[in-house]
Amino acid sequence: MFIDSMFVDAMNTDQFSYSECRIKLAVDDWELRQAQKLRNQVFVVEQGIFQTSDHDLFDIKAHTLVATTGMLGIPDAVVGTVRIHEQEPGVWMGSRLAVDRSFRSDKGLGKALIRMAVCSARAQGCKTFYANVQLQNLGLFQKLGWLALGEVNVHGVEHMFMQANLDLYPIAQDPSRGFVHLINQPRHVASIRELA
Ligand SMILES: CC(C)(COP(=O)(O)OP(=O)(O)OC[C@H]1O[C@@H](n2cnc3c(N)ncnc32)[C@H](O)[C@@H]1OP(=O)(O)O)[C@@H](O)C(=O)NCCC(=O)NCCS
Repeated sequence: MFIDSMFVDAMNTDQFSYSECRIKLAVDDWELRQAQKLRNQVFVVEQGIFQTSDHDLFDIKAHTLVATTGMLGIPDAVVGTVRIHEQEPGVWMGSRLAVDRSFRSDKGLGKALIRMAVCSARAQGCKTFYANVQLQNLGLFQKLGWLALGEVNVHGVEHMFMQANLDLYPIAQDPSRGFVHLINQPRHVASIRELA
């Protein structure tokens, strides 16, 4: 009874509908479509790195990971994405990390996607994981234990070539199911979940 009334209270807040995201491998068409739309929004419209589309040959073999939100546990929107591909046996690359503008900076989605990228590559035999990281994001990756290996120019933009410390990323057991990432949790809902 007590818990029910707390949830009703939480549902009356705007934040409740976005209180959790699932970070997972994209398997459904709508997830892949929305991930591509978000990538275009970020890398074409916002950053102007590409003129019309950021799609390239790596997309043929890459796996797309997404952060989805929804209502009452039913996912209906992609708000973050990243892709991974195997460059040579055991060597994986992450790229096209993007979070919807209104979900950035304090919700931890970028970090969660980076975690899922490396953990799901490990599930497929990854022994080394690299990414070319835009310089403004260097601090974020360094905080996550990545090693800076040297500056490179990619698509006319300065990047840092970086390597993940795989010891910090356990193998993902089931990437298509992924994990739940809590965001914007009203304090009382978070404490109820911790008790459950
Ligand atoms: C880079 C990006 C994916 C980060 O995603 P995010 O969801 O905002 O990141 P998180 O919420 O996980 O934040 C991680 C940390 O970085 C900090 N941070 C994130 N963006 C920041 C910003 N623009 N300015 C200052 N700090 C920032 C957060 O405060 C947080 O710090 P904390 O660990 O001390 O709490 C997102 O900003 C983005 O999509 N940018 C545009 C595309 C892009 O640059 N892609 C990456 C190419 S390498």
